[in-house]
Amino acid sequence: MQIVILKDSASVAEYGANIFIKQLQKKADSVLGLATGSTPVSLYQGLIAANKAKQISFAGVKTFNLDEYLGLEGTHPQSYRYFMNEQLFDHIDIDKSRTFVPPGDAENPIEACQGYEEQIKAAGGIDIQLLGIGRNGHIGFNEPSSGLMSRTRVKTLTKATIDDNARFFKVGEYQPHLSITMGIGTILDAKKVVLLATGENKADAIKATVEGALTAACPASALQLHQDAVLVIDEAAASKLTDCDFYKHIEAENQKLLAKLGL
Ligand code: PGA
Repeated sequence: MQIVILKDSASVAEYGANIFIKQLQKKADSVLGLATGSTPVSLYQGLIAANKAKQISFAGVKTFNLDEYLGLEGTHPQSYRYFMNEQLFDHIDIDKSRTFVPPGDAENPIEACQGYEEQIKAAGGIDIQLLGIGRNGHIGFNEPSSGLMSRTRVKTLTKATIDDNARFFKVGEYQPHLSITMGIGTILDAKKVVLLATGENKADAIKATVEGALTAACPASALQLHQDAVLVIDEAAASKLTDCDFYKHIEAENQKLLAKLGL
């Protein structure tokens, strides 16, 4: 894993956005894996700005989101489809028919999961997958105990995740406790994975991801198996790492090497 520790959340968003900008400049028809939650919002603002400045175009891009609540239609303000339209798709030059979010209103969710896997495959696989991380180490809605080779499927949310996401729902509003999520195996198939984490409340999950054992108890630890996973985190999220100075040293050496090679 490449571990990039930056001073604050703004630097994390800027660094993450630059990875996606470079990807789109290199491959205009990239297949992007996208995420919801608070963490990616500033990164999306960076992509919108770069699109408006004509540094990148989304005209040839396809996107696949990690997950969706089961039981919410895409028009529901708390659905992840709605979130993606609001936070990104409505502000860039993308054709929405090329944006995919698991169908939370599917009549047969089990078939829909299989269908989602097939759509990813038909698009040629995901070039670069954006991830946040839950306080419990989840990626997508792969909660602790998720199979490390799992594929897109229906998952039950933990109480911790339901509580963390309650802030987005009005008092008394129906909050789903089931989801459709890409599996950990689906995520690991992406050619590159970029996980963003900011704030002290993610420090335990980041510690378990980087320095803990490979275990279904911390789904993000599966990224230890990926050949091109980048963790972009701020000082607060890095605060429980034992070998922080070593990771900073590695990153400084990486940057020197890239500069020498003119990359
Ligand atoms: P957050 O969610 O960005 O809102 O903290 C991350 C996640 O649960 O994956």
